[in-house]
Amino acid sequence: MDKLVIRGGEPLLGTVRVSGAKNAALPCMAAALLTDEPVILENIPQVRDIQTTRNLLAAMGAEVELGYGRAHHRTTLHCKNLSSPEASYELVKTMRSSTLVLGPLVARCGRARVSLPGGCAIGSRPIDMHIKGLEQLGAKITQDHGYVEATADRLKGTEIVFDKITVTGTEDLLMAATLAEGETILQNCAREPEVSDLAALLNKMGAKIEGAGTPTIRVKGVSKLKGAKHRIIPDRIEAGTFLIAGAMTGGDLNIAGCDPTHLGAILGKLKEVGVKTKSTSDSVRVMGDNPFTASDMSTEEFPGFPTDMQAQFMALATQAEGASIITENIFENRFMHAQELVRMGANIKIEGRRAVIRGKTPLSAAAVLASDLRASASLVLAALVADGETIIDRVYHIDRGYEHIEEKLRAVGAQIRRIGEMFPKKAAPARA
Ligand code: EPZ
Repeated sequence: MDKLVIRGGEPLLGTVRVSGAKNAALPCMAAALLTDEPVILENIPQVRDIQTTRNLLAAMGAEVELGYGRAHHRTTLHCKNLSSPEASYELVKTMRSSTLVLGPLVARCGRARVSLPGGCAIGSRPIDMHIKGLEQLGAKITQDHGYVEATADRLKGTEIVFDKITVTGTEDLLMAATLAEGETILQNCAREPEVSDLAALLNKMGAKIEGAGTPTIRVKGVSKLKGAKHRIIPDRIEAGTFLIAGAMTGGDLNIAGCDPTHLGAILGKLKEVGVKTKSTSDSVRVMGDNPFTASDMSTEEFPGFPTDMQAQFMALATQAEGASIITENIFENRFMHAQELVRMGANIKIEGRRAVIRGKTPLSAAAVLASDLRASASLVLAALVADGETIIDRVYHIDRGYEHIEEKLRAVGAQIRRIGEMFPKKAAPARA
């Protein structure tokens, strides 16, 4: 199992380039299921969840090609013949967002068999709204042996109001609606940039979608979608993570290839804390040259402060003077990183969905455990300022959503290296 070893104390200086957004790439890859023509996606991040999704589509019979050479960030997906519209438990249990294939498969093939994702570290994360929406579109749904089976001759457009705002629920049903008969109106939709990016791809494929990025999305169903080429938007959570890294280490870091219009709540909160930033149309420079003051933060759906940045903000709050109150409104169990930060010297008290962080506390290196993708990012941030050498175990979590994180950080001055069985040891040859 790989580990990251980080020696703290180095300011991050220079330029780091943001990769494509994992949470836009995943639904866009699922969208390829909606057509029998090739879909070419560019600016795909090389992260574990992308490989898992390639394997998932290939297992269904799709031809999946990885871009070569410089185009290593491109993938061509050709779902001409889908021999088995299924998503097995083995794959879904490693990546819940596999449920994004449910809507496209029912819409394209008239049937789907997808494992229920089960819980995950940050919460129960049911998919009841995905299922309810598909039933409203006319799909017949049964659940047994841990699988959801959905069938439909042809989905029929209707009005769907989400009980709660759900990102992949919006994406799943948006994709299903593109091939439904008649018009579908989706109300109380997620407004995340990743939803808008998916809609942009779908419209390039011939879908008729209006209102993506607002609470109400209108879809006029069509009988067939064609192939398309699309460039994935930059990853706003990776950009936000590096912004906090530059601030915490007292560095001067330019985050290149990002979209500052996706970072409004993050930049606003950093300003409140006293972090200096300067934005252009496609980059943000962060200067961590002054003390930070404590600031309260509540996670909200976009355009509010993203839950995927909560753990990283908590790491920053340990270095701010005063008490910061963080309220996690999206998931019920997303403070696992707190106890690991406490072991590094942070002063954090958890009360239900609220965490109270009293700073500024010096952090000291420790052996810590990553529990989920964004928790691991917050441990990396803490390690970058901790006194000594921190060892972070189970970094496969971080590899799910951050491309080559140690190379990117090392290139701007961090003392970071990866250790572990990169190549499983071969058994010694038997002696003659
Ligand atoms: C997406 O997850 C992201 N994943 C998550 O990012 C992100 O944290 C989350 O949205 C919130 O922004 C991808 O886009 C692949 P939700 P998703 O449905 O869609 C409840 C990361 O770190 N809910 O918006 O699964 C749910 O339990 C990951 O990159 C239901 O009750 O999240 C949660 O409390 C982690 N029933 C709330 O809604 C449903 O049918 C929001 O979840 C669906 C969701």
